[in-house]
Amino acid sequence: MSYPTFNIQPIGRFSGQSEAVKRPKEIACFSYDDKHEFHLDDSSLQWYYPPKLGADLSGGFEKFDKHDDSTDEHLDSLLKTIIAHEQEEGKKIDANIVTWRGMMTKIMSAPFEDRDGYVKSDINDDEDANLTAVFMLASKCMRLSINFIEENHRFKQSAKEEQNRQQRSRPGQFSPDVMTYWGYKFEALSCLPKPWGEVSREFIENRDEIVVSNKAQYCSVVRTGIGKTVLCLGGEVDAIWDSKPPQKGLPINWVELKTSAEIRDERGMKNFERKLMKFWIQSFLLGVPKIVVGFRSQSGILTKIEEIQTISIPETAAKRGVRSWDANTCINFANAFLDWLRKTINDQGVWRISRRPHSSTIEVYKVHEVGHGSILSEEFINWRIKL
Ligand code: A3P
Ligand code: MG
Ligand code: MG
Repeated sequence: MSYPTFNIQPIGRFSGQSEAVKRPKEIACFSYDDKHEFHLDDSSLQWYYPPKLGADLSGGFEKFDKHDDSTDEHLDSLLKTIIAHEQEEGKKIDANIVTWRGMMTKIMSAPFEDRDGYVKSDINDDEDANLTAVFMLASKCMRLSINFIEENHRFKQSAKEEQNRQQRSRPGQFSPDVMTYWGYKFEALSCLPKPWGEVSREFIENRDEIVVSNKAQYCSVVRTGIGKTVLCLGGEVDAIWDSKPPQKGLPINWVELKTSAEIRDERGMKNFERKLMKFWIQSFLLGVPKIVVGFRSQSGILTKIEEIQTISIPETAAKRGVRSWDANTCINFANAFLDWLRKTINDQGVWRISRRPHSSTIEVYKVHEVGHGSILSEEFINWRIKL
């Protein structure tokens, strides 16, 4: 059986001057509260305030209030927010593609990732599941002329289990759960629930005591574009530096928080340079200008903070002669792939977007002939029928 395929290789054809990109503009936002309940507001916005060095990022792990991510949330919150935005504006959004920022990060990094798409899968009710990493699902709403892309939740879950299995087998290492906790703990140590002037000194000093939770989130919904494709993306932003500007559409001083292992040798440097690609893509897509990296020791002690300007990452990488990735290739690849995807996913039904193990081709095939599966919520379909 042959499916429409897009060849990532040779990636040389995507190098050179980059396609035009639109500066992301926030059109709406939403929050999940500390129970992970949805609110159409900015109530979970947090402010950055530098953390104290020397903190143990494992501290409080046993009390971690972890979000249960076994339920597939599809695009529901993003679609709810789009409905409210369209009601307010009295007109439809003009995007060609609606998706989570994370899906676009996967697409943009695809030329330089051969691990990301594939993990030995035990999704076993699909005939070729062991061979295929079905990492996204998509549908086109013909009346709206928009392609919607969501993450394949089952694939994500099984990829995570496999990653956990592989890491558990390495003795002497922290468990993957603890290492994931480090990222959230760093956020708790670096954020305030209100601007600096409105919280007590005591609160700032005692952030190490806060019970860490990943249930609350602030999500920004932006309009952006790569080449000819207009995108509406939703994604979490960790914090703000100062305050939102008074008018919609102006750049916002968002801060992305990241943890990373201390750089101790050439190998560590190479690893960090590779990680910077994902940091850059993730922040570039939502228009996050600054990334604050918390470097940690092997045992999870916070030892250094570094502020990185998102815009400087591609140039610095090029100047340093980084060979593992190139920003223009990411942008031009995304432009070509999205163009192709919009032509290929040209009808209703549910389509799978997949990449075979260590393969350089992305395949798209239709798994349901009609409807939109669970990609589009009833609420969204009903709203758009009325509009
Ligand atoms: P780090 O990025 O510091 O490792 P984000 O950086 O996107 O705001 O995510 C916050 C934290 O969520 C991450 O902190 C990490 O702990 C966890 N996380 C995010 N994506 C993950 C993934 N794909 N696998 C494991 N952990 C992840
Ligand atoms: Mg985050
Ligand atoms: Mg972060």
